[in-house]
Amino acid sequence: MKHHHILEKNSILLLLTALIVVSIGGIVQIAPLFWIDSTIEKVKGMRPYSPLELAGRDIYVREGCYLCHSQMIRTLKDEVERYGHYSLAAESMYDHPFQWGSKRTGPDLARVGGKYSDQWHVEHMINPRSVVPESIMPGYPWLAANKLDYKNIAENMKTLRALGTPYTDEMIKNARQDVEAQVDPDHDEVDALMARYPKANVANFDNNAKAVTELDAVIAYLQMLGTLVDFATFDQTGPNLR
Ligand code: HEC
Repeated sequence: MKHHHILEKNSILLLLTALIVVSIGGIVQIAPLFWIDSTIEKVKGMRPYSPLELAGRDIYVREGCYLCHSQMIRTLKDEVERYGHYSLAAESMYDHPFQWGSKRTGPDLARVGGKYSDQWHVEHMINPRSVVPESIMPGYPWLAANKLDYKNIAENMKTLRALGTPYTDEMIKNARQDVEAQVDPDHDEVDALMARYPKANVANFDNNAKAVTELDAVIAYLQMLGTLVDFATFDQTGPNLR
């Protein structure tokens, strides 16, 4: 304390020492999260997005859906009752960047998968007021008209692999074919797709069998959200708390 006046009279020194003190606090709080097992829970069922879901996710980001929709159910009773099991870190581990969002003008979408039929989504995305009369969500009619551009989907997956998403060579090699198989239940390669991406929804999502559209991709993505983790086998207490 005797020498404290030296710090108080020297602003640069005060700034530097303040930075050091604050970083110690930060390191103590943040660094252990990189190593403890429970930061990302071990769960059964999480897999990388299928190529079609991935393309849908990119459109979700492009259209700014995250500005009105969060994808993070908090550990609060009212949220869990409304949306289902609170979100796990593991459920966003293949998201680059994650889509937690910071604002809810519309409802949380973390578990919207399977809540509505594909047809409901088609109508809702084209004109939300046709199914929810009081909705203030904008329509996205161009998604149904735009053909999906998936010529670079394999490169997209390679980039994600560089960031840590476990796409295999086989997944990358078959990426374009997997896009086509997921929108066509009669496609020869549906079984191979399902083996690579368990629980994937295979359907002609937008009722237009002539083309793979952006709407197909967005609905495939929405219908998958929150459906992958097998909660029957998930231990809520976590490995470190038992
Ligand atoms: C301006 C804010 C806004 C934007 C942007 C927006 N939404 Fe919405 N969304 C809403 C609101 C409000 C609702 C609730 C009313 C309704 O169902 O239409 C909603 C509802 C939904 C629902 C139904 C959720 C449920 O559980 O009932 C889905 C699915 C959805 N939006 C998807 C999207 C997608 C995909 C995009 C981007 C292409 C998007 N939204 C962009 C405001 C928005």
